[in-house]
Order: sequence, then C-alpha cells, then structure tokens
Amino acid sequence: MLNIVIFGAPGSGKGTQSARIVEKYGLNHISTGDVLRAEIKNGTELGKTAKGYIDNGQLIPDALMIDILASVFDSLKDSKGVIFDGFPRTIAQADALKAMLKERGQEVSVMLDLEVPEDELMTRLIKRGQESGRADDNEETIKKRLVVYHSQTAPLIDWYKKDGTYRHINGLGTMDGIFADICKAIENI
Ligand code: AP5
Ligand code: MG
Repeated sequence: MLNIVIFGAPGSGKGTQSARIVEKYGLNHISTGDVLRAEIKNGTELGKTAKGYIDNGQLIPDALMIDILASVFDSLKDSKGVIFDGFPRTIAQADALKAMLKERGQEVSVMLDLEVPEDELMTRLIKRGQESGRADDNEETIKKRLVVYHSQTAPLIDWYKKDGTYRHINGLGTMDGIFADICKAIENI
C-alpha cells in the first residue's frame, strides 16, 4: 500500500498534484474538502453543518471529520493506496489517521509538504474565485483560512518530521516541475 498525505496551505496545489499522482500511481484520492462540498451540493444534514464552517474559513470539528474520513476510507475496494488531500489538518486528526491505519495494518508512507509563499497563494485563490466561484475563494475568507492554517495545521510539519515521513516540496514553479519533484520523493520511499 502506498498511502500519501499531501499537505500545504490553501491554494498550495494539493488538488492539482493529487490528480497527477492518482493518474500515475493508480491510488484512490480522498479530498475532505471535495467530500464536504459534495454534501453541501446534495443538501444533506452534514452539508448544512459543514457550510457554516467552510464559508467562514473555519475547520469542521475533529470528531465529525475523523468519522467521515474513516467511513470514506472503508468504502474503498481493492485499493492500492490512498492520497489524503486536506486531511489531517490538526494534531488530533494526524493521531487519528495513524491509529486508523494501524488498526487496518497500514501506515502513511510519505507526507509531502507543498510550500508556497503567501502572496502567491492569495493570487492563485483570488483568480480561482473569479473564474470558478468557489464560495470560500474571496479575499476575506482566504485570509481566515490562512490564519487557521498557521495556527492549527502548520504544527503538523513538526509532527510528521518526528514521524519520519516528512518531505519538503517547493510548491512554487510549473505544475510539471513540481510533479517531477513529487515523483522523485515517492520513488525514494
Ligand atoms: P479544502 O478543499 O481542502 O481547501 P484548502 O485546503 O483551502 O485548499 P484548496 O483546495 O483551496 O487548495 P489546494 O491546495 O487543493 O490547491 P489547488 O490544487 O486547488 O478545504 C476547504 C474547507 O473544507 C476548509 O477550509 C475547511 O472548512 C473544510 N475542511 C476540509 N478538510 C478538512 C479537515 N480535514 N478538517 C476540518 N475541516 C476541513 O490549486 C489552487 C489554485 O492554484 C487552482 O486554481 C490551481 O489551478 C492553481 N495552481 C495549482 N498549482 C499551481 C502552480 N504550480 N502554479 C500556478 N497556479 C497553480
Ligand atoms: Mg483542494
């Protein structure tokens, strides 16, 4: 099993690079943001709960998010491995992921940290907001998402360094160049 955590601030390219990894390595992709947006679109109870948090740039509570992640993971059949995109986002989620995988005889193979300067993140997300209209891609909400990233999510960098699975990736440059660096990191596992 190849289980990859793709990590980085909002707009760092997690979704973009996940699509390429899925294509090349045949993994399943779990994007917790995509899961929540699908629930919102379908008007479910979970979607109604999630919308309040997402529109305000805040994280969905850990207990809820951890249950959702486990149920999506267990729904996968004949998986070669999973790319976790947007999960974990807190220390509690990282502990839960480790425990969940261990119970199933698995582990995280590598954590890829896409590092991108803040002004570039802002430029990318404002542009996407104008083009595709994702509800949380407006300047005010992006700023809140970045604050949440620094306070609650960035501490996972040290968590994964201690875990021994951390790899730094320069997330600034062409999508192809970044993907080439990601492939090197995966092939060095
Ligand atoms: P989520 O959907 O995960 O959003 P995010 O982390 O804010 O990140 P994005 O999806 O905006 O960016 P990305 O890193 O995927 O970059 P992308 O490839 O799209 O989460 C949304 C919300 O859901 C959270 O705020 C929270 O409320 C909730 N949530 C989700 N998971 C949760 C969890 N685990 N716990 C609690 N709450 C959770 O690229 C961005 C843009 O840049 C695109 O337009 C792309 O085309 C462009 N781009 C990509 N690469 C490049 C490049 N190299 N050069 C130029 N442009 C590029
Ligand atoms: Mg994404």
